[in-house]
Amino acid sequence: MIVATTIEDVRREVSAWKREGLTVGLVPTMGYLHEGHASLVDAAVKSCDRVVTSDFVNPTQFAPGEDLETYPRDFEHDCALLEEHGCDLVFYPSVDEMYPDGGGTTDTYVEILNDMPKQLCGKTRPIHFRGVCTVVSKLFNIVMPDKAFFGQKDAQQLAVIRKMARDLSYGIEIVGCPIIREADGLAKSSRNTYLNADERAAALVLSKAVFLGQSMVQDGEKDARKVVKAMTDLINQEPLARIDYVEAVDGVTMKNVEAIAPPTLFAMAVYIGSTRLIDNFAVEA
Ligand code: PAJ
Repeated sequence: MIVATTIEDVRREVSAWKREGLTVGLVPTMGYLHEGHASLVDAAVKSCDRVVTSDFVNPTQFAPGEDLETYPRDFEHDCALLEEHGCDLVFYPSVDEMYPDGGGTTDTYVEILNDMPKQLCGKTRPIHFRGVCTVVSKLFNIVMPDKAFFGQKDAQQLAVIRKMARDLSYGIEIVGCPIIREADGLAKSSRNTYLNADERAAALVLSKAVFLGQSMVQDGEKDARKVVKAMTDLINQEPLARIDYVEAVDGVTMKNVEAIAPPTLFAMAVYIGSTRLIDNFAVEA
């Protein structure tokens, strides 16, 4: 596996592949990789000739006071996992390589101006999706992949990136991949590492709420408010949990819905102690 730390090196390697007529898949990540990330690499390896994974904790998507400084990092472990899953190149840039003005900021952002990035996670993280769109847009420009792979775990992020790719005519296929969970149901996340033993047990309330909601929908419930209420009540029984939001929205526009029909998305963010975790399920056709 090639380790590239500069944009120039990535461009050189990818151009050589493209000259050979090979297709390229991109898996954007912030590192501290787990099986959720690995599943995206697996999907990319399956459908592309060459796979690039970016490993970059992107400062522009963190607000002051969020966990940018403490975000877990382990590049050696990431490389071992990526190699094992058949990734061809890992892009591991410095902050200054990605943001040449210095200080991890930029004067040029990519931002969706409708309400979509203001819903759900956008309510408490108002600059988050602007930072995500900016860095993913830069990664698209650097790698110019045929396909890019994102997890349904971050359902709003996936919807925002689909919209951005369409609005900016990227011509890159955006592939959504299912949520990978621990054996007991907790969605895998780099942030799970922040949880102590009590919090880890309490965090199960998120997936329990997802499974409860899913079973209500499977049993024919059509009123989104009833499902949201049942999920909310369940989470509120856990003393260590504090709800940020539990909502039913249209999975494409992120606008609230009352009647359940595909592509309804039930999404939640819940603080377990001081750690904010997210989970969701989509109602499929
Ligand atoms: P990160 O949180 O590292 O996640 C990278 C990708 O892995 C995202 O597409 C995310 O949805 C996916 N992922 C994380 N946990 C998953 C799980 N349990 N199952 C399936 N997929 C999972 O999301 C980001 O980084 C950043 O915002 C990024 C897009 C890289 C831009 O900086």
